[in-house]
Amino acid sequence: MNEKANKTVRFPENFFWGAATAAYQIEGAYNENGKGESIWDRFCRTPGKVQDGDRGDIACDSYHRYRNDIKLMKEISLKAYRFSIAWSRIFPQGKGQVNQDGLDFYERLVDELLDSGIEPFVTLYHWDIPQALQGKGGWANRDTIGYFKDYAEEVSRKLGDRVHFWITHNEPWVVSFLGHHSGIHAPGIKNLSTALKVSHYLLLSHGEAVAILRDNGDEKTRIGITLNLSSVYPASESEEDKKAVKIFDGHLNRWFLDPIYKGSYPEDMLALYDDKVPEIRAEDLERISTKIDFLGVNYYTRTVVKADKKEALLGLSSVKPSGAEYTEMNWEIYPLGIYELLKRVHNDYDEPVIYITENGAAFPDKIDKNGRINDEPRIKYLKDHFLQAHRAIEDGVKLSGYFVWSLLDNFEWAHGYSKRFGLIYTDYPTQTRIIKDSGWWYKKVIEKNGV
Ligand code: FCB
Repeated sequence: MNEKANKTVRFPENFFWGAATAAYQIEGAYNENGKGESIWDRFCRTPGKVQDGDRGDIACDSYHRYRNDIKLMKEISLKAYRFSIAWSRIFPQGKGQVNQDGLDFYERLVDELLDSGIEPFVTLYHWDIPQALQGKGGWANRDTIGYFKDYAEEVSRKLGDRVHFWITHNEPWVVSFLGHHSGIHAPGIKNLSTALKVSHYLLLSHGEAVAILRDNGDEKTRIGITLNLSSVYPASESEEDKKAVKIFDGHLNRWFLDPIYKGSYPEDMLALYDDKVPEIRAEDLERISTKIDFLGVNYYTRTVVKADKKEALLGLSSVKPSGAEYTEMNWEIYPLGIYELLKRVHNDYDEPVIYITENGAAFPDKIDKNGRINDEPRIKYLKDHFLQAHRAIEDGVKLSGYFVWSLLDNFEWAHGYSKRFGLIYTDYPTQTRIIKDSGWWYKKVIEKNGV
């Protein structure tokens, strides 16, 4: 037994070991070189929306420090880096005039990565629509799809010869429901019909962008979308709780996976949302299900649900199992969930090529007296998830890469700077970076391509 426990588990050749970030969370330089205002710039300035009144104005200052950050990526032997482009650097007003400086910045970033032997994975939309477009209704306005197409066109014309991996959207569920139903994210709207309309337009804009990215790419181009998915379990064996599982799975997972892979929305959810469902034109679903090359999966935790009549929308609520371990986000640590999720997606949705585009954990890291950050809990979290992902690969799941969230501690949306997810510690007042023990451990994983 011992012998087995000590054996290195190896990942497939050319596996992309990476780390992920997003523009608003790390770049700073919120108003430099022609960048326009985004909804997160505005949201952070709205009192009471973000913890401690934190804002992404400076964040990790990566806009200025990207060269140094790429050196750190090399130091920990990353093979790939997932980042996002700030739409408002390219189109400060969301449409119309292109800001060349913005395009040039991302070109320098991509070139520096390639010179360092690191594969760029580029996300077009990680939640920061230009404020000027929000003024016209944002993602609830069908015209925004056209502006997103223009944005995809500009960016891929500039970078399509060098960037081979494109992700259209990050977590459309979060944009739709946290941004437009619970309102805890920008733009802070609380309206179910709006949220559902937004989800449809996000998916439609995804399908449209796939065709553009394809046109501006070459035979190496691979295009996908990133969804935040969760494996869902019942709080008890009761029929009501099992029904709740099906509903929550429909709400979070199938509402996005079905249109993309099957060209239809799930019937049970259409019935449940009823008159809140937006107009869906005949050709929309055909667009949304345009063939993609991979699925990006963000997995952090499982979801346990129970029937709950008090909850108007879905008639269920989530429960926190007692006796379980939790990260600082109060998310249950449940590595088995990544295995079960990967298998389920593989079986139910045409065995797609999958990248884990985010997985990681926030813990209250402290610098010790030797200047080190001993983050054993994060190492354990990652190791256990890597092992479960490996099990899925052994069972035939086409997992081709894994991106840890995050490269460095950064602006965690409504939580401001209070949550640290990085492999690298960010000391915000000085912008000093310190590679955490998890970063050094990850380097070894990458170098032996195994755990
Ligand atoms: C995901 C987001 C990412 C980060 C992690 C913790 O939902 O995509 O930007 O905030 O959560």
